Amino acid sequence: MTKNYQRFISFEGIDYSGKSTQVKMLVKRLQRLGVEPVVLREPGGTRISERIRDILLDTAYFEMHEKCEILLYEAARAQLVHQKIIPLLESGRFVIADRFFDSSSAYQGFGRGLTLDEVKQLNRFATSALKPYRTFFIDISPQEAQRRQVANNRTRDRLESAGIEFFTKIRQGFLTLCEEEPGRFIKINGEGTPAEVAEKVWAKIVKIWELHFNFDAAK
Ligand code: TMP
Repeated sequence: MTKNYQRFISFEGIDYSGKSTQVKMLVKRLQRLGVEPVVLREPGGTRISERIRDILLDTAYFEMHEKCEILLYEAARAQLVHQKIIPLLESGRFVIADRFFDSSSAYQGFGRGLTLDEVKQLNRFATSALKPYRTFFIDISPQEAQRRQVANNRTRDRLESAGIEFFTKIRQGFLTLCEEEPGRFIKINGEGTPAEVAEKVWAKIVKIWELHFNFDAAK
């Protein structure tokens, strides 16, 4: 059983929630305090996991079965956890995951309709039971996600092509996960400006980490 590390947090949200922007803003703020966190994205973050990411997001593979899909996410995750995340945490680094296993629970469990028990077992297997100390859920409505998608005129990857009903299910899934583990999840309203959302995230980060690592938040 892997131990859980206080220096490990994750960010979650439906597509277009702005979580990756928030991760970047948080990193800049931490760097100003002399903290150099490592950011790892899922699926991805290692040579093998990035190759798996290409397959997962490629719209050419429309025939992908949902069991194949989750096993590929878990394969990418297993490599990332054991090759990078655990060694980094062991060496004392701060690690921020841009998505982690809660995405599989929300997308493959609530979204695709695999049972949550199945997904959770696979999550546990892939991660050797490693959990983020805190998980930020950046919450936006599926309507807002769609508005941002149109505004950005972005081409959709294989997952994003699924439509608004799919994202409604996933958001509900994340909200259920937040209720199941209120001690780990921190729900943040993601519909403000990036700077407004970043302030809310920072207020929580200061509480979480100042306690343990004596950050000087005023710096
Ligand atoms: P990204 O757009 O945040 O980089 O994530 C890639 C896509 O993969 C996104 O649509 C969410 C999806 N995804 C899952 O369906 N299950 C997972 O376990 C992970 C990590 C991502």
